[in-house]
Amino acid sequence: MQPNLPRGRGPLSDALFEHWCGAAQLHPVVLDGVDPLTDDDLHLALWCSYQLHYSGFDGVDDRLEWDGPTLAFRAQLEAAFLGALLDEHRPDSVPRDPITALRVIAAQGGPPLSSFIEERGERWHLEEYAIHRSAYQLKEADGHTFAIPRLRGPGRSAMVEIQADEYGMGVPGDAHSEIFAAAMEELGLDPSFGAYVDRLPGTTLATDNLLSMFALHRHLRGAAVGHLALFELCSVVPMSRYLTAARRVGDLPALSRFYEVHVDADVHHARLALDHMVGPMVRADRSLAPMVVFGASALARTEVRFARHVLGSWEQGTTSLRAELAAQPR
Ligand SMILES: [Fe+2]
Ligand SMILES: [Fe+2]
Repeated sequence: MQPNLPRGRGPLSDALFEHWCGAAQLHPVVLDGVDPLTDDDLHLALWCSYQLHYSGFDGVDDRLEWDGPTLAFRAQLEAAFLGALLDEHRPDSVPRDPITALRVIAAQGGPPLSSFIEERGERWHLEEYAIHRSAYQLKEADGHTFAIPRLRGPGRSAMVEIQADEYGMGVPGDAHSEIFAAAMEELGLDPSFGAYVDRLPGTTLATDNLLSMFALHRHLRGAAVGHLALFELCSVVPMSRYLTAARRVGDLPALSRFYEVHVDADVHHARLALDHMVGPMVRADRSLAPMVVFGASALARTEVRFARHVLGSWEQGTTSLRAELAAQPR
């Protein structure tokens, strides 16, 4: 089943959706005053553009995936997002060797979101966190898979091994996305893909857009590799904290399983990613190295912005999600 198109939240998403419905032509965008790293409207428009490559939307023609005006519009949003990520990237602040750089980036601390959830997280925090992550987690691994045909030679087989694990080695129900859907259902949430997009702020959508952008562009394939490597390197500690919280809140076996699976698998995945994926890849093609480091550091900074937003809201005792929308015809 395809998700519904979310509601527009500004001139960018409004223009895109009107074009998809045949109501208006798309024109070049004006991004004055927009923060391309976090803007709600920009990241919704970008996220919806990327979804045409995944599940599409109910009522939106699947052929729009390769619609020229849509791709030109998306390219402008991507140029702004990628440009801002490159602007804040400081390659001289990390070692040049990508393996060492990945270890350094992974060791940098961010806002203590996982510690908050471990120590103080209540059931509503676990629910809200699942809603935030659902934009990615309900299609977990699919983004990185898009990068596989863009890579060749040494290191690719390790990436395939990681991805096979993420898909549960082909066992029905064992794909991490399916385990996550079961956990959402257990939390009383709607596990349909895209059910909560209207509630997700730009800082959350940016975390998913980052991967789609890296994986869907051949010139950014190194960044997709760096993204996957840091993802695996930074998984076990927070996942074990979420697991502690799920067990403390209690009666959440499916959610606990989702976190247990990651605590178990990602020690191995981190080793595979560093020693068998990144290492052989950059030894075979040194030109990939700077982009591997960029992909990892862009992920780290994007996750910091996400965590800062969520934690900042929770510490004030408020929701980190966008306000619930009043029922109205789409
Ligand atoms: Fe996973
Ligand atoms: Fe993993």
